[in-house]
Amino acid sequence: ANENKSYWDKYGHYFLSGTLITLALAVVAVLIGTTLGTIFALLKLSSSFLLRAIGNIYVEYVRGTPLLVQAFMVFFGAQVLGLNLSAFASGALAMGLNSAAYVAEIIRSGIESVDDGQMEAARSLGFTKNKTMRLVILPQAVRTILPALGNEFVSVIKEGSVISVIGVGELMYETSVVQGASFEPFVPLIITSLIYFVLTFSISRALGFVEKRMNR
Ligand code: ARG
Repeated sequence: ANENKSYWDKYGHYFLSGTLITLALAVVAVLIGTTLGTIFALLKLSSSFLLRAIGNIYVEYVRGTPLLVQAFMVFFGAQVLGLNLSAFASGALAMGLNSAAYVAEIIRSGIESVDDGQMEAARSLGFTKNKTMRLVILPQAVRTILPALGNEFVSVIKEGSVISVIGVGELMYETSVVQGASFEPFVPLIITSLIYFVLTFSISRALGFVEKRMNR
């Protein structure tokens, strides 16, 4: 009976659950990434040498080592520490910690892209540093930060494929399952690449739309 089932009936659910896990990984990773990334951006912009050093070391170290290595480090590191993290939690955490370094740079450069004159003008009008940041600098920085964060979300969806190595059943992991079960390695890859493409292309289209509206 199995021979008469269509490809979709036999393997569709692998692609479906893989896609859902891939999206879930990306969403959790971006939430962790933007939260920690904001903190590291503020550290990098701090007037304290020590805080700046911490921000710089984190960002350079994370961006200078492969996500593949980081994923294994979080997965096995959690075991060494006696933490009972699931593969999904380890994977999402590794991706979030990785993304934080990239987000920190996005936020730092967004804030620095706002002309210094804005800070000086607001300060001379009697705004405190904090108020200037919140009411003058950030609203302008958001215009460059938001689109870049959208691109980061797209990157994170694609980079999530690396997380298959620690056994998270995301799209790339389920693809290998189908490759094994069907004794056919190529077709599943075509399907998977199309799924990734539909995800990333529709997100970047949606972002372009939001960007256009923001600039009006
Ligand atoms: N391919 C890179 C690596 O192996 C990961 C880059 C992650 N990029 C990102 N924007 N979060 O390290």
